[in-house]
Amino acid sequence: MKVTLISRSGKEFIKGGLELNDSATVADLQEAIYRRTKKYYPSRQRLTLPLQPGSKEKPTVLHYKKSVKDYCNGNSENLTVMFKDLGPQVSYRTLFFFEYLGPLIIYPIFYYLPVYQYFGYKGERAIHPVQTYALYCWCFHYFKRIMETFFVHRFSHTTSPLSNVFRNCAYYWTFGAYIAYYVNHPLYTPVSDLQMKIGFGFGLVCQLSNFYCHILLRNLRSPTGNGGYQIPRGFLFNIVTCANYTTEIYQWLGFNIATQTVAGYVFLVVAALIMTNWALAKHRRLKRLFDGKEGRPKYPRRWVITTPIRVEMNGKRPLGPLDSAAYLKDVVREVNSHLD
Ligand SMILES: NC(=O)c1ccc[n+]([C@@H]2O[C@H](COP(=O)([O-])OP(=O)(O)OC[C@H]3O[C@@H](n4cnc5c(N)ncnc54)[C@H](OP(=O)(O)O)[C@@H]3O)[C@@H](O)[C@H]2O)c1
Repeated sequence: MKVTLISRSGKEFIKGGLELNDSATVADLQEAIYRRTKKYYPSRQRLTLPLQPGSKEKPTVLHYKKSVKDYCNGNSENLTVMFKDLGPQVSYRTLFFFEYLGPLIIYPIFYYLPVYQYFGYKGERAIHPVQTYALYCWCFHYFKRIMETFFVHRFSHTTSPLSNVFRNCAYYWTFGAYIAYYVNHPLYTPVSDLQMKIGFGFGLVCQLSNFYCHILLRNLRSPTGNGGYQIPRGFLFNIVTCANYTTEIYQWLGFNIATQTVAGYVFLVVAALIMTNWALAKHRRLKRLFDGKEGRPKYPRRWVITTPIRVEMNGKRPLGPLDSAAYLKDVVREVNSHLD
């Protein structure tokens, strides 16, 4: 059979197309493209079926495990496929490793090295116990995340665009330096002993809970990463869809109660917003996959990420806490429905 490859502009991408066996899979097609182009390795390729001009539908993405013939729709001799270059790719493990390595290295620099001299602060720097515990908490957190990346998570996506490494590193490394600068500052004023203990104690419980959530997510898949998406169950997953994000957010809240810097709270807000948006998408995906139709289980009613920052309200777009009156009414209704 012959596969004609076109680019988004409609031009033929590989002159004369590619000849494949009738039994070829999409993975074979991707390999054939790579052999011909020498540049576009399989994870760089996005292959879709062309849409009618002006169509607003989402294009069908070719799945690497499926046979090419499955997409032929009656005409088994010819198939036209749209090719898109996704750009250079890196594995998820590489992406996560580099984004977490930065904060793990940058933070101790501010604690151990005399960096504040370069900001105009001369003389001895007295280190408060809270600053030492903050260092331990911080390093434990990022060390744990690197270990989880290599030994716990079972990723379904093999790669991510290389550009995400720069974007994510900019986010984590900048916030790491920003928070480290203020928490380790020579003019830093510690909070009370009790507040410090409550903050770090709560933060540690949340870190351990976050680890347990990741173990529960891991057990949803086989060691090869197969198994797709399942309904997460057990522990806090019985209440919220993304319990791992919930515990992450509360862990940073604990850290901030203990260290009390504007920088730390800014990070908390930004991280919570990012995770809330991801959690909403994950919640929607699970509800779509587990719709209760044709023998599929129905996704149980759950909060999205945390209560009551954002809740899902009967299919309506979730509201933020600032839409106070309508929001509170919906929260009360949602709580009542959970109590039924
Ligand atoms: N501070 C911050 O700004 C920030 C932001 C984001 C994350 N984080 C932290 O980093 C951790 C990892 O983040 P993440 O976004 O990669 O978490 P995630 O997508 O929720 O899940 C982690 C792993 O579990 C898998 N998984 C999730 N839901 C699943 C389901 N229903 N069925 C089967 N497998 C499922 C994921 O698979 P896939 O490979 O298919 O996704 C992934 O391999 C978070 O839990 C959080 O602690 C921090």
